[in-house]
Amino acid sequence: MTTPPPRDWASFQYKIYLNGLISGSVPRLPTDLTRLERLAEHRLGPGPFGYVAGSAGSGATERANRAALDAHRIVPRMLRDVSARDLRTELFGRTLPAPMALAPVGVLSILHPDAEPAAARAAAAEGVPFVLSSASSTPMEEVAAAMGDGERWFQLYWSKDREVTRSFLDRAGAAGFTALFVTLDTPLLAWRPRDLDQAYLPFLHGVGTANYFTDPAFLAGLAKPPHEDPNAAVLHFVSLFADPGKTWPDLAWLREHWDGPIVLKGVLHPDDARAAVEAGMDGVVVSNHGGRQVNGSIGAAAALPAVAAAVGDRVPVLFDSGIRTGDDVFKALALGARAVLLGRPYAYGLALDGQAGVAHVVRSLLAEFELTLALSGHRTPGGLDASALDGPTHGG
Ligand code: FNR
Repeated sequence: MTTPPPRDWASFQYKIYLNGLISGSVPRLPTDLTRLERLAEHRLGPGPFGYVAGSAGSGATERANRAALDAHRIVPRMLRDVSARDLRTELFGRTLPAPMALAPVGVLSILHPDAEPAAARAAAAEGVPFVLSSASSTPMEEVAAAMGDGERWFQLYWSKDREVTRSFLDRAGAAGFTALFVTLDTPLLAWRPRDLDQAYLPFLHGVGTANYFTDPAFLAGLAKPPHEDPNAAVLHFVSLFADPGKTWPDLAWLREHWDGPIVLKGVLHPDDARAAVEAGMDGVVVSNHGGRQVNGSIGAAAALPAVAAAVGDRVPVLFDSGIRTGDDVFKALALGARAVLLGRPYAYGLALDGQAGVAHVVRSLLAEFELTLALSGHRTPGGLDASALDGPTHGG
């Protein structure tokens, strides 16, 4: 496999200015990605918007995610020759064009009819990996077909039913998903007032269940196919979707049944990170699910330095929960992440402009990141560490 040359993400801004010059056009979506949420609120119904924007409890963790990133400030350095930049990043034996992938976000059909295939196509076109949720509204094989040979990873909600899990792993492997992301922070659905107040849960309408309703092991547990008895299918899904009884030794079974890298998503404590490495895992994602699970939990970026220190260079540490702009990516990498996962911003991009909206979000974020990197005196993501920041971990 040949390694692609470094890509000039920053030139996206000249394309925008040039388009304006030539045709008077301006971007269809804002280039300040923090504005997307408000726009999506006007576009989406209250159920779908609340499902994406909402968090657990009072929203304290989501605010903590932002506060933990805002607590750090970049300290730019001057006269360091930043003419040649290279954002390429090694991860799981592959060279990514930038230190970013799209996070697993379930039920994208509530945001746009083109749903997961549109987001996955946008990711593939930019060369950015797409992490497909177990709870997608499109079966994994269809998403894989939409992506061609684009890099794809599968996120597992670790079912109570071993045969369903085994079947998901087989299907994901056959469909070309190369890494497995096992989400640990969702053994139960959290208390989410925004959804509760509207009694809105898409899964109960059979949305976000596509991987299950097309799965032979899942279907074997039903008396009638889902289209004949949708309620029974939904109840069966609810009964096996997650398993609060799982413990660390259970990882051995997954290790046995998945050949590629396994990454544990939702790690916040350094001891859990160490346990992941000891269990033979290939990476961890420091994440609190975007504040959607434990209200009052530590901001994800506040947990990152200790996890990165615990893991050292044994496995890569990824990060999500709160990434909104290019400087957030910079900070996450400086705090010890190899790469970040982008969640809500791409979901809003999809809601607002389908595949093109996701592409806009990816290009904007990475252009802003590359410019932040260069303007702060750095040429590669790998060159970042806490000395690039002023803030809690660097002694202020
Ligand atoms: C998620 N997330 C998520 N994670 C996961 O492992 N499987 C999933 O199916 C979903 N579904 C999902 C739906 C929605 C609407 C959101 C907003 C998030 C969590 C996601 O992968 C990621 O951890 C968060 O989105 C990160 O937080 P921010 O940066 O988006 O706030």
